[in-house]
Amino acid sequence: MTQDKTVPSAPVNIAGLRRMREAGEKIACLTAYDASFAMIEDRAGVDVILIGDSLGMVLHGGTTTTPVTVDDIVYHCKCVAPHVSRSFVMADLPFLSYATLDRALDASQRVMQEGGAKMVKLEGGREQAAIVEYLAVRGVPVCAHLGLQPQFVHKMGAFKVQGRDEAAAEAMLHDAHVLAEAGADLLLLECIPAALGQRITEASPVPVIGIGAGHEVDGQILVLHDILNISPMVTLGRRPRFVKNYMVDGRDIESAVGAYVAEVKSGVYPASEHCFAA
Ligand code: KIV
Repeated sequence: MTQDKTVPSAPVNIAGLRRMREAGEKIACLTAYDASFAMIEDRAGVDVILIGDSLGMVLHGGTTTTPVTVDDIVYHCKCVAPHVSRSFVMADLPFLSYATLDRALDASQRVMQEGGAKMVKLEGGREQAAIVEYLAVRGVPVCAHLGLQPQFVHKMGAFKVQGRDEAAAEAMLHDAHVLAEAGADLLLLECIPAALGQRITEASPVPVIGIGAGHEVDGQILVLHDILNISPMVTLGRRPRFVKNYMVDGRDIESAVGAYVAEVKSGVYPASEHCFAA
């Protein structure tokens, strides 16, 4: 029987993400910030929708994510979560909202209870292990974001590929291990060499999704406005290597999102041209 694409299958949850990884089914993830796009993504089969702090750049037009607040994330979670039937909704904890255990718990409580998110995402390596554990044992599912951490841009000086030398690669492998041990249910790797993405994924006990982390991770995530070719960065001609424009061949938005999901599932995306070498 062919499945009616307007009738969603069972909601995605953490166990479902683990099963997808075990079955070798790639996990398709995409950001959304409002009801209209969330409904399109849900219908198109996006497995995980992220209310990302990238909203500071693609909605507010800022040059970094640091001004984004918990109020902003909660507001956009409220615009997304009630309108999604199948996709798993994850939300970013914005800059400094998880600087202490109490702040992390308050921010998580807000995005989950007020916003309706089912998982929080935070940036950082082993130094975040205590926060991850504190949240995880209290029932907050956590995604740990490694590699390029946009919230640290003012410390790093620029958005650049991470983990290129062996010492940095080893450190990131160790971070991934410590964070999964601390209770992270998902890892996200941003802008790292494809070979390192593969090493971390092979060693990880939990699913790993990537953005500019190569083909061998368990799933891919991109920013919605980038795949629709309308984000300020792409319109200013600064398209990151891992971004692919799906608004080609006369596609409308729904078919563009559908094409992204299909290409992630089939492994067509990312191609080598979207990946970083060591
Ligand atoms: O904020 C965001 O959209 C993100 C993705 C780029 C992974 O963190």
